[in-house]
Amino acid sequence: MNNAQKIREKIIKARDKRGWDNKDWHRAIGIDQRVLEAIDAGDADLSLPGNEELEKIILNSTINNDLPDMPRFKQPVVIAFDIHKGGGGKTTMAVNVACELGQRGYNVLLVDGDSQGDSTTTILPSEDAEMMKQEDSYAKQIEKKNLFTCMNSDYLNMDIREHIICSDYDGLDIVPSNTNLSKMDVMLSAMEFREQIFSNALKGLMEENYYDFVLVDMDKNLGLFNTTILCGCDYIMIPCECEMYHLKGLYVMDVQIEKVKRYNERLKLLGVVFNKVDKRKRSVEEAKIAAGAKFGDVIFDSMLRVDSNIGNSQFAGMPVMIYSRSCRASQELRGITDEMLDRIKKGRGI
Ligand SMILES: Nc1ncnc2c1ncn2[C@@H]1O[C@H](COP(=O)(O)OP(=O)(O)O)[C@@H](O)[C@H]1O
Ligand SMILES: [Mg+2]
Repeated sequence: MNNAQKIREKIIKARDKRGWDNKDWHRAIGIDQRVLEAIDAGDADLSLPGNEELEKIILNSTINNDLPDMPRFKQPVVIAFDIHKGGGGKTTMAVNVACELGQRGYNVLLVDGDSQGDSTTTILPSEDAEMMKQEDSYAKQIEKKNLFTCMNSDYLNMDIREHIICSDYDGLDIVPSNTNLSKMDVMLSAMEFREQIFSNALKGLMEENYYDFVLVDMDKNLGLFNTTILCGCDYIMIPCECEMYHLKGLYVMDVQIEKVKRYNERLKLLGVVFNKVDKRKRSVEEAKIAAGAKFGDVIFDSMLRVDSNIGNSQFAGMPVMIYSRSCRASQELRGITDEMLDRIKKGRGI
């Protein structure tokens, strides 16, 4: 047995002694689950000089660590951020909740379901014209890896895992989108099994023990594409502004959910989260009363107030949780993430 094999055996023995699988191990010691899986499979080259360091970290950190209190699910929990209204914070919440979950040690896939690609440009670093021309640039990768190409591939071989790009943020990967996605409704209208296209694309990923959450950042339309995505989801989160036109966009969501439930019985409304709240405005109380009367228990206690850091972080091309971890918006987004996890654990939602 060579040295690298010995290291591997020692590492795996330390894991098995605790009765952990690779996900437990990753959560307990904070090392990327994919690195741990590569070690397990014998694919990691542990003879490389840098990996001695890795061995030390893994062995030392297995001594005292307990498993953190993080829920485990049978398969990834799929959540769409959706409302029939633009500008209310779907992208802001999807991106930042995804980023926060990744920072907490969950493995998260953010699916950009909007042809405008705002999640994509926030999560992947921006590139200048010269960089974009390079073969390994994100721009070139997105030409091949994106939600539109995925959903238009051969039904029997469709696999969203082939369209994932790893981000620089802990635990966070993305399926990007581009403007082609705006043609999706037309494409779907001619497709067989169209309601099942998204869940079909997720099939392989659902059977794996890797992602804990798949978050989908939707656009505001309620067409075929929206229905198809919701047919593959467990939950909907609705970010909503405390304004009349946003409430109108919220009210139609329960009809949409009822329609989708004919194809996908497990779909639930996880919560309505008020965004851009300005407590000085009378409309805040009015919106809470109106939405509460219709949706009651699903209105989140946590909310996101107006904060200029959100706009600034988007100019800086990063989630606000990274741009300023201590600003009020980041604190509130952590509160929203806590409440979301709590509701999922308790199986709440309607
Ligand atoms: N809490 C907030 N405070 C200030 N600006 C916000 C807040 N939430 C969202 N925004 C801004 O509102 C705009 C729309 O938000 P976005 O997340 O893109 O909405 P959607 O994806 O629903 O269209 C963005 O320019 C964003 O910067
Ligand atoms: Mg958006």
